[in-house]
Amino acid sequence: MEKHVEKFLKKISFASITIATLTLLLLYLQTPDTCFDPSDPDPKPHTRFPKSTCDFTHRTYTSIDKRNRRLWSTKAWTTTLSSYSSLFKTLQARNYFSNHSRVLIVSAGPGQPVQALTGLGVDDVTAVELVDSPPLVSRADPHNLPFFDGIFDLGFGVYLDRALFPGRYVGQIERTVRVGGVCVVTVEECGSDEVDEIVKLFKKSRFVDSKNVLLAGERRTRIVMIVENNS
Ligand SMILES: *[C@@H]1O[C@H](CO)[C@@H](O)[C@H](O)[C@H]1NC(C)=O
Repeated sequence: MEKHVEKFLKKISFASITIATLTLLLLYLQTPDTCFDPSDPDPKPHTRFPKSTCDFTHRTYTSIDKRNRRLWSTKAWTTTLSSYSSLFKTLQARNYFSNHSRVLIVSAGPGQPVQALTGLGVDDVTAVELVDSPPLVSRADPHNLPFFDGIFDLGFGVYLDRALFPGRYVGQIERTVRVGGVCVVTVEECGSDEVDEIVKLFKKSRFVDSKNVLLAGERRTRIVMIVENNS
């Protein structure tokens, strides 16, 4: 290697070592902000952090409450909520459910249909979605609902057209609704041929009626079925 190149490289490595040493020294001398105050006579820094990832005592639900309050007051939320309210009002007027019905909502999103139903006076609403939204919606797979057979009076599958396996999605709602109970599903707005195809997905229920509705800003078709047997 040429002499002057070697010299140059040595200079560079010396400079690097000096910079690294100075940085370490600086870090050593400077107390990070996150450390507790050494002049505090009773620091107990361990009391300020959760003891483990499973320790919820220091995580209050106020942040969820606050976030929910903000979300529930947005225009998008209230518009969607009122579209669900008017859908449920027409179903209620036809006696498909009452205040005392046990209602299941599948694909409940962040929970507008739950609020719509409780707003109408229904107090037993169970709602599931792939992602939970406490306190309104729990997490569950629509293709494998964690509920016993025939325990609901009304089962509402909000987004059948987005299901990976529509037959299974419908089958799970049918399974969890009692004989004589009502299943409601909605799909992207469609004609009677498509409605016939959707009705065929139901194995234990008879068709009651279908209607085009505006739901959450989309033109959709809702289909009502009544469960006839649960064998
Ligand atoms: C259902 O509950 C709502 C709200 O509590 C009430 O206004 C309504 O009268 C109730 N309907 C019936 C039929 O009891």
